[in-house]
Amino acid sequence: MKDNQVNVGIIGLGTVGTGVARILLEQKDLLTTRTGLTFKLSGIAELNWDIDRNLDLTGVNCYRDANQLLDDASIDIIIETIGGYEPAYTFVAKALKNRKHVVTANKALIATKGRELFKLAQEYGVDLMFEASVGGGIPIIKGLREGLVANKIQSMYGILNGTSNYILTRMYQEEMEFGQALQEAKAKGFAEADPTLDVGGGDAAHKLTILASIAASGFVDFNKLSVEGITKITKLDIKFAKDFGYVIKLLAVYREQPEGLDLRVHPTLVPNSHLLAAVSNELNAVFVKGDFVGSTMFYGPGAGERPTASAIVSDIVDLSRDLLLKEDRHLCNRTFNPENEVKVVPIEEISNRYYLRFFTLDEPGILSRIAGVLGEFNISIASMVQLETHEQEHYVPIVLLTHQAREKDMNDALAKIGKYDFVKDDYLRLRLF
Ligand code: HSE
Repeated sequence: MKDNQVNVGIIGLGTVGTGVARILLEQKDLLTTRTGLTFKLSGIAELNWDIDRNLDLTGVNCYRDANQLLDDASIDIIIETIGGYEPAYTFVAKALKNRKHVVTANKALIATKGRELFKLAQEYGVDLMFEASVGGGIPIIKGLREGLVANKIQSMYGILNGTSNYILTRMYQEEMEFGQALQEAKAKGFAEADPTLDVGGGDAAHKLTILASIAASGFVDFNKLSVEGITKITKLDIKFAKDFGYVIKLLAVYREQPEGLDLRVHPTLVPNSHLLAAVSNELNAVFVKGDFVGSTMFYGPGAGERPTASAIVSDIVDLSRDLLLKEDRHLCNRTFNPENEVKVVPIEEISNRYYLRFFTLDEPGILSRIAGVLGEFNISIASMVQLETHEQEHYVPIVLLTHQAREKDMNDALAKIGKYDFVKDDYLRLRLF
């Protein structure tokens, strides 16, 4: 950095990259007032220059080849907003090796390749920042790293995927089926290019991996998380949950346990009275409990051009402190320690309350046989509902809520119940908050 000017280069002028460019151009004076520094948008690398993005790029170097930007010695900070694994990984690695700080919104990259990239950052004396990778505009990463730095994090419950939350909200409010709500979410542009990551829980799991690594000051292996999506939930399940006083949310769960961390993503019945139950549509929230602060909730827009760009620019400003002081804080390595792998407790060893929904024949003795198997595996029933009629001929829906039971016992019980020919095999097991 020369004369208090920070030179910024953006790779990828999609939704988020455009937002970053817009802030650097439109909020230039505000940023200078607040920091005493000038943030200059020096260059952009983008393959498609045919779109009108409503940006005045006079004086900005516009490239098609990202290497031209990465090889520009005057650039201090590179913003990676192309997403996905490749070529994002190659560009970020090259930027770090060229001793440029990097800011990214790429949760898949940080969650799965963070270990290598943070090592590179350390080796080359630069930082890799990723506030925008979780919760869009919500400052949850700075919240954990700085605001809650004095606390051991005991638990976190996150609604981290806007697409799934939108779908579940529409299913709840409009009594829609999953497919119709997914079409709406796609039309609104919330979903990833491959919506499997959204509705399958992978996107939320990437984000949980990142939050957990920070909260536990260690390294969490993404592959050790238990991940379940929302694709099997029907409007009937939403209705049953509603009648029991719950709303179904795709929750990312972090719980400190004596044996390690309980980390999982799955649809969860959240009681109507909990703050998370009110987080609707595409909004995100993280409910965090620290040992000194108690319970806190971070809430806001989890995606989109302006919120995500807002988070990226907060990282740019943060990094400019290092440039100004010629300091190397190794922020990422302090809070995402690649040398300290966190133990994840297998979900089979965790206990939960459960929601079970079966379609069974409506004949004498069936309920007692299901209850008998649950009893055999030490699972106690808390409530039960059977509907008289259902559009599927001969089969009726039966829903049970259980008391706390071990996941392993529940797996064994369901394997046995699933073999009965009076039970259809599309039964559903959800967990309660
Ligand atoms: N597809 C993501 C979501 C976008 O629905 O939350 C932000 O990561």
